[in-house]
Amino acid sequence: MSLDEESIRNRIQRLKSLPTLPGIFEKITGLMESSDTAAEDVANLISCDQALSARVLRVVNSALYGFPGRISNVTHALIILGFDVVKGLVLSTSVFDMMLARGFYGLWEHSLGCATTAGVIARKTNTANPEEVSVAGLLHDIGKVIIRIELPEEASRIDELIGTRELSVYEAEEEVLGFNHATVGKWLSQKWNLPDKLSDPVTYHHSPALSRFAPRSTAIVHVADSIVRAMGFGCAGDNLVTQIDSNAWEMLEISDPILEEIIVEVDDKLENAEDFLSGFGS
Ligand SMILES: [Fe+2]
Ligand SMILES: [Fe+2]
Repeated sequence: MSLDEESIRNRIQRLKSLPTLPGIFEKITGLMESSDTAAEDVANLISCDQALSARVLRVVNSALYGFPGRISNVTHALIILGFDVVKGLVLSTSVFDMMLARGFYGLWEHSLGCATTAGVIARKTNTANPEEVSVAGLLHDIGKVIIRIELPEEASRIDELIGTRELSVYEAEEEVLGFNHATVGKWLSQKWNLPDKLSDPVTYHHSPALSRFAPRSTAIVHVADSIVRAMGFGCAGDNLVTQIDSNAWEMLEISDPILEEIIVEVDDKLENAEDFLSGFGS
C-alpha cells in the first residue's frame, strides 16, 4: 500500500493530537523572530522555567557538545551556540520528555547516540555548526515517537512485522501505514516551523540524496544513524544496521583513519552517556 503525498498529509493532519509544544517554545520563537531581541531577553524567558534551563545547561555541558562544565548560564549558551541551536535544544528536551514519559528508553538512547555521533562526524569533517547537526541528530526519529503515541495499534503491528519478518522499522511502517516516520517528521517540522537545517535531516535521513537545503547535515545524520546502530547503542526499533548511502558517504570524504578516530571518540563519549541519561529525567 502506498499513499500519495496528499493522502499522507491528510492522514497525518487527521491524527487526533499532534503534540503541541510547550507554550514557552512559541514565545521563544516569537522573540527570536524579532530583530532587536537580545540573547538576554531569550535567556530570561528560558530561565523562568528552572527545570527547562537546567536541562538545556545539562545538554550543553554534556560530552555531546564538547564544552564540558564551561557554560554556566543560558545567556552564555545562547551567545556561544546561537538562537537556532538553543531553540533546537528546548525542542529536544520536550521530545526527550515525551519519550521518557512513555518509557521509550531504547529510542531515547538511540537519539542521544545519533546526536553524539553526528556532532563528532561534523567536527572531524570540518563541517560548520556541528552543534546544529547534533540537534538534528537528536530529533531525527521524532516521527517514531508520534507513530507510537498516535497510532498504537498500527505500532504493535509494525513491531510484530519487525519480529516475524525481520523488516526494518522503515519497511514495516511502509507496509502497515503506507508512509514512514521520516514523513511524519516532515509534517511535524512544518507544523513546528523548524528551519531547513533541522527539517531536512529529519525528513531525509533515510534518503539523503533528496535533501535540497541541508545535504551535508542530512548526510551526516544518515551516516551517524547507521554507525550508532552498528555500535549497538540504544534501540532504533529494529536490530538492523542500515546500509550507508554511497553518495552521502562520498560527500563527507571520511578516510579510514578519520573513521577510526570517529569511532574511538564516539565510543568514549557514549561510555559517559549513561550518566547523562540517568540524570536527564531528574
Ligand atoms: Fe529513522
Ligand atoms: Fe534512527
